[in-house]
Amino acid sequence: MVSATAQRPQAGHLRAMRQDMIGYLEGLSQQGDFLKIPLGLGTAYYLNHPDDIREVLVTQAELFHKPSTIKYAASGLFGENLFTTDGRLWKVLRQTMQPAFQSQQIRDHAQIMIDETAKMVSQWHSGQMIEICQAMMDLTMGITSQAFFGVDLRDRPEAKNIVRFIELFNQRISGIPVPAWVPLPATREMKTQIAQAAQLFDALINERRHTSRIYTDILAMLVAAQASDTTGLITDQQVRNEVMNLFAAGYEVTANSLAFALHLIDQYPTVETRLRAEIDQILGNRAITFEDLTNMPYLECVLKESMRLMPVTAVFARQATQTVTWADRTIPKNAAVLISPWTLHRRSDIYPDSLTFDPDRFDISGRSQMPKFAYLPFSGGTRICIGQAFAMTQMRINLATILQRYRLSTTPDYVMQPYFSFNTRPQDGLPMQLQTI
Ligand code: HEM
Repeated sequence: MVSATAQRPQAGHLRAMRQDMIGYLEGLSQQGDFLKIPLGLGTAYYLNHPDDIREVLVTQAELFHKPSTIKYAASGLFGENLFTTDGRLWKVLRQTMQPAFQSQQIRDHAQIMIDETAKMVSQWHSGQMIEICQAMMDLTMGITSQAFFGVDLRDRPEAKNIVRFIELFNQRISGIPVPAWVPLPATREMKTQIAQAAQLFDALINERRHTSRIYTDILAMLVAAQASDTTGLITDQQVRNEVMNLFAAGYEVTANSLAFALHLIDQYPTVETRLRAEIDQILGNRAITFEDLTNMPYLECVLKESMRLMPVTAVFARQATQTVTWADRTIPKNAAVLISPWTLHRRSDIYPDSLTFDPDRFDISGRSQMPKFAYLPFSGGTRICIGQAFAMTQMRINLATILQRYRLSTTPDYVMQPYFSFNTRPQDGLPMQLQTI
């Protein structure tokens, strides 16, 4: 079967994507599972069927790379990293970093997650209005920076620059990437910010090289990996790139996933009641521990379901390195492939009543009833998110600790408007009122 061509939106595909990516993707999903999108300078294919997605992410994954537009946007600002690179460098980096994300390592970081969340809620009070996106951003920045490189970034003046850099970079890769040599004001600003961030991370790395103190965080693991590296690929600059990348890749998406989860819990009182009953039964008034998580299956289902309905990574892309075929599908060389967890997760043939928030879709025993590659909040295949277990552990601890103390609700006139800028977040933030339990 030859692919259908996606109807050209009035504004043109690229402009429609930039104006309202979520609306654009939803429009595509109405037109078919496998669509060709003529983009002027190139062609993209939209894939929305689990069988086709499995071909790209698993069966023929070697033939698909990260899109050159991402590398192009990053060039001149920072070097390649685990997120942007492919081939041998990607394999070496992934093998080097994977051990830092095993369950024992995550368990070691759980206390930071518990303490930081408890500290945050102890500063809240009943009746207060909180802008949840900002509060979650602050929380995840504190947790991620301490767990990854042993420093609370919130205490450092450079933090503002890093946050602004991530914001500008996300805007850059969501639009048409402009090379870093074009003297745009945003590019100049980004170059200054990245240089300041690099100074901070270089200082942290040097400190580690010359200390006798034993650290068990991700930075320590990277510094040790560099010392024993025989490939020559883990250079000083690469270590710095990875530390910055892990931080940038992790903190904002986790914060926005938490915001969407809190919003959905507020919108569905029966889910909230059942979740509160589980938290109450397992924790009562005491602080959560890492071990408690295994006894809180409904909490996990709630989180999984919120990432089904509102996945922060609404779309991600690959690029064919040669012409690739399977069944009756053909993706020409250099064409981009768009995979949208947002629209995939809303397929009503896979998820009946798909717009309803229903954590019972996820089997409480942990067994999945979904077709494989129909649920991709963290992507899938070899390039599945390296921080998945870290994020899932952190978010369950965050949610249980917050809900144990407070009920959070939006005002009746609040309308959730998801906004896409590489990642997805509530457009105008998420103001919620606190009420003590
Ligand atoms: C709820 C939180 C998170 C979500 C929804 C999420 C989602 C994703 C997705 C969809 C991808 C695949 C992107 C693609 O293939 O283009 C990815 C990759 C990645 N994520 Fe996450 N992520 C989360 C948390 C984290 C955290 C905490 C870290 C930090 C350790 C992290 C680090 C990365 C890295 C380094 C990659 C690239 C992996 C590779 O290509 O080998 N993520 N993430």
